[in-house]
Amino acid sequence: MDATIETIRNEALAGFETARTPAEVKAAEVKYLGRKGLVSEILRGLGSLGPEERKEAGRKANELKLALEAALKAAQERLARDVQEAAGIDPTLPGRPMPHGRPHPLAQTMDSICDIFIRLGFDVAEGPEVELDYYNFEALNFPKDHPARDMQDTFFVSPGVVLRTHTSPLQVRTMEARKPPVRVIAPGKVYRCDSDITHTPMFHQVEGLVVDKGISFPDLKGCLVSFVHQMFGAGTRVRFRPSFFPFTEPSAEVDIQCVGCGGKGCRICKDTGWLEILGSGMVHPRVFEFVGYDPAEITGFAFGLGVERIAMLRYGADDLRRFFENDLRFLRQF
Ligand code: PHE
Repeated sequence: MDATIETIRNEALAGFETARTPAEVKAAEVKYLGRKGLVSEILRGLGSLGPEERKEAGRKANELKLALEAALKAAQERLARDVQEAAGIDPTLPGRPMPHGRPHPLAQTMDSICDIFIRLGFDVAEGPEVELDYYNFEALNFPKDHPARDMQDTFFVSPGVVLRTHTSPLQVRTMEARKPPVRVIAPGKVYRCDSDITHTPMFHQVEGLVVDKGISFPDLKGCLVSFVHQMFGAGTRVRFRPSFFPFTEPSAEVDIQCVGCGGKGCRICKDTGWLEILGSGMVHPRVFEFVGYDPAEITGFAFGLGVERIAMLRYGADDLRRFFENDLRFLRQF
């Protein structure tokens, strides 16, 4: 038995060492280590030995198996190196760095906006971009003949179904699904039939909604001023301008002091010193009625931010369309 093992070992080691091609290595592997190979044969033969003898022979047979497996591995590695050398590949050279990607500037801006509101205690909600007229207009108190319902502004999908023109439908969807108190933001894509250097047919908004007993206009102001200070710097001046939305009363547009000129007047702010960044207001009692909240008991405020607008101000970009052209020379700057 010992003699047989020794002979096989020497023969096999020589076989692996002198193999010059993958086929030769494979042939040696099959011959010695294969299912019907010589090592298997020895292991099978152990059955016919007495218990003492079997123990000793079994140990030796296993040693043989391990030695041949190591020789096989060495032969395979030797061949792989030969191939690399023949191809002029030097595996000791340092690797080439992979180019790193990063989030799109609009995604970065969206994330910063959401982070600020999450820290202020808001939950994040999401809703469909293909939306029912009911949520986009009807339950937000848009009269049937409101111009925003016109073919000019809204993409109609089918009767009663639109691409949402703003994220405000999430106000209604959220209140339908939850009881007050509510404190949510809803980031997402919105669509309007509009296209020039400051408008693209698809753009992004972040909606905000706070509803509880005793919410008042000062809460709205405090919340939005805090947002502006975190987003644009603590010294940034904020202005609330009376405005109109069918679903808020009173309504206010929020302007910030121009980031280009600090308020002196320049091209960015069209010499006004101010830039509009969002619409807001106290939730209209009619909207509460649509969702089954009692306007005598609770109040709330809502706001809708234009993400592209904020990104342009943040990065000093002057043409909104650049964000959507996917030119890496532009996008890599952010
Ligand atoms: N949905 C409005 C818009 O797109 C913004 C808005 C949101 C105004 C919430 C008031 C309250 O212009």
